Amino acid sequence: MLEMARWITSNTDDKDICMTFQRCFSMPECCASAVLQITALGVYEAFLNGMRVSEDVLQPGWTVYGKRLQVQTYDITHLLQKENTLTVTVGRGWMRSPLAGWTSNEKMAIRRDMPDGLLAEICLTDNTGNTAVIATDENWTCHESPVRFAEIYDGEIYDARLEDSLIEQRSVTLLERIKEDLIPQEGCPVRECEIIPASHIFTAPNGETIVDFGQEVTGWVRFSVDAHAGDTVSFDHAEVLDQDGNFYNANYRSAKAKVTYTCREGRQTHTPHLTFFGFRYIRLLAWPGIPDIHDFEAIAVHSVMKQTGFIRSGHALLDQLISNIFWSQKDNFLDIPTDCPQRDERLGWTGDAAAFVKAASLNYDCERFFAKWLNDLKAEQYPDGGVPVVVPNVLPDIPPSAAWGDAAVICPWQLYTTYGNQEILEHQYSSMKAWADYITSVTHDPYLWTGGIHFGDWLGLDAPAGSYKGSSREDLIASAYYANAVSILIRTGRILQRDISSYEHLYEEIVHTFRKTYPVYHTQTEHVLAYAFHLAEDRQKTADALAEMIRRDGMCTGFVGTPLLLHVLTEAGYTSLAWDLLLNENYPSWLYSVRLGATTTWEHWDGIREDGSFWSTDMNSFNHYAYGSVIDWVYEKAAGIQPLEPGYRRIRIAPHPDRRAGMLSVTLDTHSGKIISSWKYLDDTHVRYEITVPQESELVLPDRTMTVRAGTYIIVI
Ligand code: BGC
Repeated sequence: MLEMARWITSNTDDKDICMTFQRCFSMPECCASAVLQITALGVYEAFLNGMRVSEDVLQPGWTVYGKRLQVQTYDITHLLQKENTLTVTVGRGWMRSPLAGWTSNEKMAIRRDMPDGLLAEICLTDNTGNTAVIATDENWTCHESPVRFAEIYDGEIYDARLEDSLIEQRSVTLLERIKEDLIPQEGCPVRECEIIPASHIFTAPNGETIVDFGQEVTGWVRFSVDAHAGDTVSFDHAEVLDQDGNFYNANYRSAKAKVTYTCREGRQTHTPHLTFFGFRYIRLLAWPGIPDIHDFEAIAVHSVMKQTGFIRSGHALLDQLISNIFWSQKDNFLDIPTDCPQRDERLGWTGDAAAFVKAASLNYDCERFFAKWLNDLKAEQYPDGGVPVVVPNVLPDIPPSAAWGDAAVICPWQLYTTYGNQEILEHQYSSMKAWADYITSVTHDPYLWTGGIHFGDWLGLDAPAGSYKGSSREDLIASAYYANAVSILIRTGRILQRDISSYEHLYEEIVHTFRKTYPVYHTQTEHVLAYAFHLAEDRQKTADALAEMIRRDGMCTGFVGTPLLLHVLTEAGYTSLAWDLLLNENYPSWLYSVRLGATTTWEHWDGIREDGSFWSTDMNSFNHYAYGSVIDWVYEKAAGIQPLEPGYRRIRIAPHPDRRAGMLSVTLDTHSGKIISSWKYLDDTHVRYEITVPQESELVLPDRTMTVRAGTYIIVI
């Protein structure tokens, strides 16, 4: 790949300015096709004769640079003219922007100082099959682009006057850089996927002008303005308004998330492209004239994935929650699964991905999306098998944590379960095994995972004052996840026909030691794990105690307990309590945030309090998907669509209706066909079930269990 091309750099002193690389060439006689292969150090936008070479944005995407750098291949034949100019503008992107936001100034300076770079080849083929290659080399030129600054967190500065000015071409310099890390595009392309027009423009109590898009999105704002050359447009972004209805972005922490644009003369439209934002509102800091609602559109940018889950209920707030969960997935699936899209993080937190992967895999077909990220996870694994807390690993100083590193086993297993493709297990087996072995090698006590530094039940509401970690014991959580990891490894090993006898023995010892060490559980999350991972001696008693605690104290689970909580309740016969939690509108609950106007899922149960104040400025994202994992309970338990075999090759439909929701209709487009499970209350007691299955399936209804053939069944009970 890219054999002829040499890395080139602009060698510019002012690294803030995004440089445009350029190459002019004539179309050879009888040219039949032109194919561009391209990658860059940062993110690039490429144009042939002023036309974009593809719809993809923010390419080459985010991977483990140095080990894996994606190369995109585009057919550009349709853009060819007799005389051609290829221009490629390169921004800092994830490679050269300072990430994470709290990194030391020295480390930030190192990233900011890295050279830009481009590697590209155009292969021109004539109709006799002869080829000519135009590759990056010292014959290319470069010049300053109108993008004066573009970084992931801080946004973009653009001077449109420079679009028309005569640009001084400079020579490029060859850059000594490896090519061994080049890989073909693996992930789903990232594109502009939806346009959301501004819904409201208003003056806040403090006099500021705010544009509301009515929906929190990740992406950017396209604006149009009438201006004189030199006028300024400037705005920053926010997710929510404060208690008084004013613009609030303190929760972005150090991320400036700001666009500054210097206008050219006349009517013009601009879209930032080498950065992105998570926002619902923008605040106009400068705008020539009077802004009009039609001047603004939010553009949602994310990885292209096919929607596979469709849910509708008879409960307006529940429907809004479902919409919020889908949005938080789209907003955080921008090439890698991120914790949040707005503040100075936007990182591939492994624990968040592990919590949400099941839900994610049902909402959208994200097999390819996750397969790429798991390749990065594998590439980032430390030599001892430890998995970094974020992938790509920009936080190497934080040691691996239980329930976070477990993404290494949980994600491939979930992909296999949802999509039925064994390849992902084959591919990740060594990584999965290395993670389990890592735990064995670092624990202080055999057959448990004790010691280490963990995130615990992150953001659990039973956290001691001043702590982000719920009060579940970290050693217990870590040991429970150890058991789970080894159990997944054993199941995987059996499928792949590997020798896993030593792990079978290990697993028995872990369960035995866990039971001996933790005869009683103290918190809700401890109960949840003991039940869900089959560690409790008496699972029913454990679930009974959990139900009791929830009735007494309300729900207080964090990132670890919450994704499993409702499943445990339903499996243990407490479905009505699970519905209580799902439909509860008071803090802490899912619908609490919906009642307070959320359009995406919140990081913290009380991100905004009843009185409109914020729980904190620090750890308060309004677009975090982790708690949105509850949607997998809606698919699996409320609608009851359960895979009995990977990829839904065999299915059980066991719905758990509840009068308060009125009705539920769920469609799941699986690799084995379309499954529909709907129920509707006809009156207080009668429920009409309508179920469509693509192959022989098991139906479990309140009064009967039966095996049915492919088809649609309508049953009233
Ligand atoms: C992130 C989380 C992440 C956590 C780990 C946070 O700052 O936003 O979602 O899992 O750190 O503790």
